[in-house]
Amino acid sequence: MKITVSIIKADVGGYPGHCSVHPKLKEKAGTELEEAKKNGILVDYCIATCGDDLELIMTHTKGVDSEEIHKLAWDTFKKCTEIAKELKLYSAGQDLLSDAFSGNIRGLGPGIAEMEFEERKGEPIVCFLMDKTDPAAFNLPIFKMFGDPFNTAGLSIDPSMHSGFRFEVYDIYNDKKVMLNTPEELYDLLALIGTKSKYVIKRVYPRKGNKVPENEPAAVVCTEKLFRIAGEYVGKDDPVAIVRAQSGLPALGEVLEPFSFPYLVAGWMRGSHNGPIMPVSMEDATPSRFDGPPRVVALGFQLANGKLVGPVDLLKDKSFDEARRLCGKVADYMRRHGPFEPHRLSAEEMEYTTLPKVLEKLKGRFEKI
Ligand code: F6R
Ligand code: MG
Ligand code: MG
Repeated sequence: MKITVSIIKADVGGYPGHCSVHPKLKEKAGTELEEAKKNGILVDYCIATCGDDLELIMTHTKGVDSEEIHKLAWDTFKKCTEIAKELKLYSAGQDLLSDAFSGNIRGLGPGIAEMEFEERKGEPIVCFLMDKTDPAAFNLPIFKMFGDPFNTAGLSIDPSMHSGFRFEVYDIYNDKKVMLNTPEELYDLLALIGTKSKYVIKRVYPRKGNKVPENEPAAVVCTEKLFRIAGEYVGKDDPVAIVRAQSGLPALGEVLEPFSFPYLVAGWMRGSHNGPIMPVSMEDATPSRFDGPPRVVALGFQLANGKLVGPVDLLKDKSFDEARRLCGKVADYMRRHGPFEPHRLSAEEMEYTTLPKVLEKLKGRFEKI
């Protein structure tokens, strides 16, 4: 059975500030998607949150970029915004940048990760939700899952994985993409995706020889760039991703292993600071220290003819306690840099924040030395 998994997400109002989603918004989103399920538009759904982001996890049979599914998500966010306005939640409707829906939600503000595939006999999927960071925050963990044998034992000891994977990488400034094969183009791949402000992994595919067909994505990352859409900083494009696991793909534990290291990502406080990403449960995704540090939540499901059996809140596991502790230490260390790089982002990355307006004031005061 061909099934589509879509995560469509938006920040339609925070509570308090940019910290979390009010329960009434979750409730409203649930009512809307339940109705869509009854009407046969959705096979199943799960309402999730990460920080101030409302995440609609949906399964259906309408393929990616379906107007009906995108409209459902758009209308749901609009209705949730009405409640956010009544409650005067912070920055109500923040991510809905357009007044009108015109067939596709892309470019309108919300983030999207979608993939269509033939559901296998056993189909475990992990929905990753991040807050206070950007899509490039997935570069390192997705690379580790599909490209690094020190993370994914299967790359060296499972014959089905030996042919490696194909990475689709976006150059987000020039709207171009390139396909790179691992293991043979591993160094080229790293040369690109290490430059996180420019190159992001969009999708990963299996290669010939894998049990999973080579035209079906094994992972997809949301790459909408909110600040580019809006022209200036209006909120971080906190990303989501979907990763399929097991039987020729990384095992569940190989998919989660990268998050045992709280690597540095951009997006903390005002979208302008680097900080360590903290693996947490959905309940603990309430970034409150200096509006952070950035969070990652992982919800695991088994698919049963499109039905979402789950979720299991995977990063809640005690084995991630040490990563959380280290994250606290790294957060202390980074914070002590205050307004200095590399805690604050580089000048180039600050271009889309409010900083240029501050500097504008000083323009006429510079003299030749
Ligand atoms: C929002 C975020 C926050 C805000 C900060 C300032 O996702 O990252 O750190 O940027 O709280 O918000 P405003 O400008 O709305 O006061
Ligand atoms: Mg917000
Ligand atoms: Mg957010």
